[in-house]
Amino acid sequence: MKYIRNFSIIAHIDHGKSTLADRFIELSKKKKYKANQILDSMDLEKEKGITIKSQCVTLPYTYNNENYIFNIIDTPGHADFSYEVSRALSSCEGAILLIDASQGIEAQTLSNYNKAIKENIKVIPVLNKIDLIQARPEDIKNDLNNILKIDSNEIIEISAKEGTGINNLIKNIIDKIPAPKNNDKNPFKALIIDSWYNNFLGIISLIRVMDGTLSKDNIISIYSTNKSYKINKLGVFTPEKIYKNELKTGEIGFIEMDSKSTNIFSIGDTISLTSNPTKTPLPGFKKTTSKVFAGIFPEDPKDFKHLTLALSKLILNDSSLVYSGQKSNIFGFGFKCGFLGLLHMEIIQERLKREYNLEIITTFPNVIFKLIKHNNEVIYIDTPTMFNENERTTKILEPIAKINIITYKEYLGQVITLCIKNRGIQTNIIYTSNQVSIDYEIPMVELLSDFFEQLQTVTSGFSSLDYYFYKFKEANLTKLNILINKKKVDALEFILHKDKAYNKSKAIIETIKKLIPKHMFEISIQAAIGKKIISKTTIKALRKNVTEKCYGGDISRKKKLLKKQAKGKKRMKNIGTVQIPQETFLTIFRKGR
Ligand code: GTP
Repeated sequence: MKYIRNFSIIAHIDHGKSTLADRFIELSKKKKYKANQILDSMDLEKEKGITIKSQCVTLPYTYNNENYIFNIIDTPGHADFSYEVSRALSSCEGAILLIDASQGIEAQTLSNYNKAIKENIKVIPVLNKIDLIQARPEDIKNDLNNILKIDSNEIIEISAKEGTGINNLIKNIIDKIPAPKNNDKNPFKALIIDSWYNNFLGIISLIRVMDGTLSKDNIISIYSTNKSYKINKLGVFTPEKIYKNELKTGEIGFIEMDSKSTNIFSIGDTISLTSNPTKTPLPGFKKTTSKVFAGIFPEDPKDFKHLTLALSKLILNDSSLVYSGQKSNIFGFGFKCGFLGLLHMEIIQERLKREYNLEIITTFPNVIFKLIKHNNEVIYIDTPTMFNENERTTKILEPIAKINIITYKEYLGQVITLCIKNRGIQTNIIYTSNQVSIDYEIPMVELLSDFFEQLQTVTSGFSSLDYYFYKFKEANLTKLNILINKKKVDALEFILHKDKAYNKSKAIIETIKKLIPKHMFEISIQAAIGKKIISKTTIKALRKNVTEKCYGGDISRKKKLLKKQAKGKKRMKNIGTVQIPQETFLTIFRKGR
């Protein structure tokens, strides 16, 4: 135990966590070894160049003739995945706070540092990328001192890319991060850090042993369900899988269990031996709450079963995803899904496509609203369909986010204008050497439109954003309905601020008009609030004969054209007698709210 060091690498996106983990891996290997973003093992992570899931690697080091074991957890940098950071930190005794020496402090640098301080673990501040000519180590050390009260002498300088300073960092980790507490004599108890499903092996969990020892063939109990499972195999990732006979106090490793059923191991749960089950669970992890909701439907309704199974496997690996059944008058059976943010939503869509070969339709993202009825009953609304305009309500409240934006001083004016346009209220502003950190309270629904893209545009990409849910606040909200030939389209309903309803309704009906092909009859497209139509347009009728080009001559060509048209119809959705290409919805949803 004395020789174990458990720590996470935390940082803003792209400050070099995975590159540093690569260097740690290379240095620990006896033979020559070349690592390249090894811990970003998902194809999606490699392609996007971002870490989505935390990864743990167990590495041996020899220092002053003593043999040490490092358990390193690489964490994601994007705000949507901050729960992964919290999970990683609660399994460790220390953290490396990595800061890009050319970019300086950014939004997730602050929020991750604060999380580590809350967990009361040792933080080692490290300036990375000192090889870059634009690196400003002294300025950034001053900023760290001013804003986070970090002593400049404590900050270690490295280049994860070139390997400079890594040996010094290893020395600091050994000297400064405490070894795990010696609880080896206590009955076995461990925390589930992560779980995933493997088609051949069943459920695999990554665990941090807090007390005692777990041996292979032991039978374990899951605290929350009181169910027992036999351990088949256990071991550590180096990053290759190495099977062992036991996992001891302080170690982080995996267990493979005798179970083929999905959906049973909650991340943050406590495990103990069935022969000596614990009565006091470990503190576990804070439950995540969904911030963004959207409907997911199979493009082909026949794939509904396949989608159900895919989601049940995905949540095992991603406990922050929530879902429940939903039926749409357009898309049939599907699911209402809750996500941590827009990037999380995008990742889930991609994973369903890549890992489960599913073609899906994802509806508009929404936030959760709070409605207080006249009899004081409170209802939470996560799909616009639940919002009834005629209901006697006393109050409608919307979620407000606290956001922190860090940017260069020259962009401050544009950033303030953008926040005001999106109903933001400024709460704090701090100036550093050449940057500025501003805090706003802003309705979450405004963040769902293209707020982040607009922020990147007005700051030429030189800004970072962190946000979290802060509170519910009363607002002047309404529901916008789209009607096609007087029929409501449930997938095109949304809740928004009354002041924005007219402009939004105009934009959406014009988009729909461009995307629906002409029919033999006129089609009306209307936007309504309750019974009141606030904007409308029409698609003129057209009599079209697809075979007219053939002059009645070539029968085989005629048949071919009719077959092609029939195939196209399969991908059509019907609203009354109006046929709408599936692509129309996909385009509207892709354009966002
Ligand atoms: P996320 O997982 O997306 O949060 O990113 P990350 O923090 O893991 O960053 P990553 O290791 O993927 O590095 C981001 C980019 O910075 C890559 O192009 C790296 O090659 C580069 N990089 C990392 N460390 C250094 C360094 O010390 N010097 C230089 N010049 N580039 C570096």
